[in-house]
Amino acid sequence: MKSMIKELLKLREEKDAAGGLDKQKKRNDEGRMTARQRIEYLFDPGTFVELQGFIVHRSSTFGLEKKKFFGDGVITGFGKVHDKTVYIFSQDFTVLGGSLGEMHAKKIVNVQDLALKAGAPLVGINDSGGARIQEGISSLAGYGDIFYRNTIASGVIPQISVIMGPCAGGAVYSPGITDFVFQVAKTAHLFVTGPEVIKAVNKEEVTFDDLGGSDMHSSISGVTHFVGSDERNTLDMVKELLSYIPSSNVESPPFEETNDPYDRMEDKLNEIVPTNPNKPYEMKELITLIVDNGKFFEVHKNYAQNLVVGFSRMGGRTVGIVANNPAVLAGTLDVHASIKGARFIRFCDAFNIPLISLVDVPGYLPGRDQEELGIIKHGAKLLYAYSEATVPKLTVTTRKSYGGAHIVMSSKYLGADVVFAWPTAEIAVMGPQGAINVIFRKDISEAEQPETLRERLIQDYKDKFANPKLPAALGYIDDIIMPTETRPLLIRALESLEHKSMKNPPKKHGNIPL
Ligand code: HXC
Repeated sequence: MKSMIKELLKLREEKDAAGGLDKQKKRNDEGRMTARQRIEYLFDPGTFVELQGFIVHRSSTFGLEKKKFFGDGVITGFGKVHDKTVYIFSQDFTVLGGSLGEMHAKKIVNVQDLALKAGAPLVGINDSGGARIQEGISSLAGYGDIFYRNTIASGVIPQISVIMGPCAGGAVYSPGITDFVFQVAKTAHLFVTGPEVIKAVNKEEVTFDDLGGSDMHSSISGVTHFVGSDERNTLDMVKELLSYIPSSNVESPPFEETNDPYDRMEDKLNEIVPTNPNKPYEMKELITLIVDNGKFFEVHKNYAQNLVVGFSRMGGRTVGIVANNPAVLAGTLDVHASIKGARFIRFCDAFNIPLISLVDVPGYLPGRDQEELGIIKHGAKLLYAYSEATVPKLTVTTRKSYGGAHIVMSSKYLGADVVFAWPTAEIAVMGPQGAINVIFRKDISEAEQPETLRERLIQDYKDKFANPKLPAALGYIDDIIMPTETRPLLIRALESLEHKSMKNPPKKHGNIPL
């Protein structure tokens, strides 16, 4: 027995050395963690259990038979984060560049299947040169198996991709399907075709950063939801995200008792909306004033900043917040904001997270480029996501709520459960200037003093529409509330809807506009 244990310990040592201690040291010297160190950092101490650690590939093409390593370039298993089970795979760049062959894929598929059966989140740490070229079709088949499971598990368990090195070629489509993508600044890159191919095909010189760096993906393509300053910071954010969300679609999100009084009235809210309706203010400031202890975990921070989305807690309950931000593009909805909002709303709905919408929106962003980019279908996406969502939906209109954007932003017509408006709310088909120019153009042009008439008509319009009295009289909003009361009222509304149960008609699946 003693000799067997000795042998096992030796095998374990070999397994843990993966591509070699020298390669592991090199990675640490470069400021990167090894695949195993990343797992240890993410999980509660001592909770990681490795699976299939002794797998090796069975390929012999292009000399691969001489390059066999226990684990085949990916560490898989499960452990606990905040005491809750999480499944993981972590690609090991020290083994054949973390490239994905048949057995490497088989290990990832194994944890995908287990996570789905167990109803637990799956975290994938990507650090790989992509399909293992020597294995040919087996590598491609492996990716196919992974993408298929990513898709089937979507909306059942949370799936999180963490990009900590290269993620190239078709490999990007696993992160592309998962719910959230985290990327380390500077050292992680995702792209379908690399600089060499682009140079050969397009005769264009581009850098890794241009093509797939965190600045590009977090602010332009929107592929990346979170950017970490380094690997530890990135994994800290993954842990933070996991603290807000449930393990699967049949669980409620975790409840976290708070010392922030449920009935806290916040006087600063009375001052936050400027008297001049065209003056911007920062919606994130408003959010931090109403949520538990001012803590807001923003998703997609750098992308489409005219719409703010993220997780928070109110009275201890996780909520998903969707808010127009008048500080950017006057809070208008554009193509990117619509895509961002729809994706977030659908995550919250799939995972039983109530939605709170804070509305200050002058309309959809006008422009030829927006029409060309497909504002019709992308704007419809947001409408569709709100309509389809069956989780509790609460809305607070703080100021403008005009036109189509009024309907889209979680209105009663789309099934919002409780809708409040501040006294500063303006709800109408369009803003006063535009409206008067349309309906009284002839009268104004024929008037002796056109400007005086225009001013009077605008004032009339404002008196009628630039306040929430009419929508309140018609029951389109439930109450006009004092800004200071926003937190206590939202928490009470959330409590009242705790057992909301609603199902849309059975169907194979809908056909969201893409
Ligand atoms: C096999 C690979 C590999 C791969 C890297 N390696 N990528 N082996 N298949 N795809 C090996 C290298 O040969 C080397 O082995 C080791 O990993 C480290 O690679 P280096 O190039 O020395 O590292 P670095 O300079 O840091 O560059 C990393 C890299 C580069 C940028 C990722 O390796 C690279 O460009 N790789 C190819 C990327 C790519 O085009 N992948 C295929 C995409 S197509 P030794 O033995 O020397 O240490 C694809 C299709 C998927 O993925 C389709 C799914 C639908």
